[in-house]
Amino acid sequence: MKKFENDFFIGAATAAHQVEGNNTNSDCWAMEQMPHTTYKDKSGIACDHYNRYEEDIKLMKSAGLNAYRFSIEWARIQPEDGVFDDEQIEHYRKVIRCCREHGIEPVVTLFHFSSPIWIIRKGGWEADTVVEDFEKYASYVIKALGSELKYVCTINEANMGLQVAAISRRYTMMAKKAAAAGAQNSGGEVQMGLNMQAMMENMKFQAMENEEVFGTPQPHCFNLGGSEHSDLLTMKAHQAAKKAIHDLYPDIQVGLTLSLHDIQPVEGGEARAEAAWAEEFTHYLPYIQDDDFLGVQNYTRTIVGPEEDLPVPDGAERTQMGYEYYPQALEHVIRAVAKDFRGNIMVTENGVSCDDDSRRVNFIQIAADGVARCIADGIPVKGYFYWSLMDNFEWQMGYRMQFGLIAVDRTTQTRTPKPSLAYLGSYRG
Ligand code: BGC
Repeated sequence: MKKFENDFFIGAATAAHQVEGNNTNSDCWAMEQMPHTTYKDKSGIACDHYNRYEEDIKLMKSAGLNAYRFSIEWARIQPEDGVFDDEQIEHYRKVIRCCREHGIEPVVTLFHFSSPIWIIRKGGWEADTVVEDFEKYASYVIKALGSELKYVCTINEANMGLQVAAISRRYTMMAKKAAAAGAQNSGGEVQMGLNMQAMMENMKFQAMENEEVFGTPQPHCFNLGGSEHSDLLTMKAHQAAKKAIHDLYPDIQVGLTLSLHDIQPVEGGEARAEAAWAEEFTHYLPYIQDDDFLGVQNYTRTIVGPEEDLPVPDGAERTQMGYEYYPQALEHVIRAVAKDFRGNIMVTENGVSCDDDSRRVNFIQIAADGVARCIADGIPVKGYFYWSLMDNFEWQMGYRMQFGLIAVDRTTQTRTPKPSLAYLGSYRG
């Protein structure tokens, strides 16, 4: 095992809505409660991390981790347009301080998929106003907490809108083909817990329910897919927030994160692969090239043919999410990114959902070896954050997915570290 230097971050990641519990003012929470919801479970109390963060941070510390990436929930800080809640700021201050007391660097994400309901009522991520609203929120948080922070991710997987839109197009096409052949569409093979089948089937029933909650039949929530306009607004929101943060604290390292696949063309698929990489990564360069770092998030590869993306190869191992178990992807993605992105790279998410923890250990080993080789070749990778610290609420897929280094009993909330937690910690020098 190649150990990393002491200043390299070996950490784990979570997102507020997936672990805290009771994020009642967010769009995801609202969608979970709808009669025709596409969510397989309600997030409910989640992992009760809002109350148990200290226990969770101590578990990281005792395993030897030195960094924790977590997100601040916008809907907690700003439950209504123009209303800011200082008590919630104080909650996150306690989390940050708890990290520091245990020698863990807090890496804070300002936005991880869930928006306040009022943002969606204003037109969500397709409305120009989201840029200024996000900037105000970011400024408020950083004015209060900036003196305690060194690393901030503005927006998690800023490319998710376009990715989900592409997945929906592909799914609809597959569903039509399957229907024509009299078969069922399998539903799997998508990134980030989406329940595509229910999304398609429930659409007409949901329109009315959406109208009631969000004032529109088709709400523009961040993780429901977005247009090119929304993609541009996301970049503007990032840039506005970055400027606001740097105006207040020039030394805070600011970046966003992107969901990146290891895109592998077969013969004849090169042009499609290049277009896919441009959509997923290179077209963002003008907006992120001056960032202090880029958060790279990778889970698998995509094999691209001349006409369409190819299925998971026969006999290949699959994760619980349905896509291929392929930890080699991370190294390929970092190398692809480093061809064009000149700044520091932080692996802000990489992980696998599986019930056999030895497969997770193997995944981390292959991924970490790849990271070490990138560093040896001079690529400035500054940290590796495994997704996720604990088994948690995998969005529309609910609690069935097991990405965690720590198991969480859904009834008692008891934490049981898996061997992979200590294994990850053992990478520290
Ligand atoms: C997201 C996480 C999600 C993970 C696993 C990433 O796309 O940032 O919120 O849980 O993938 O699907």
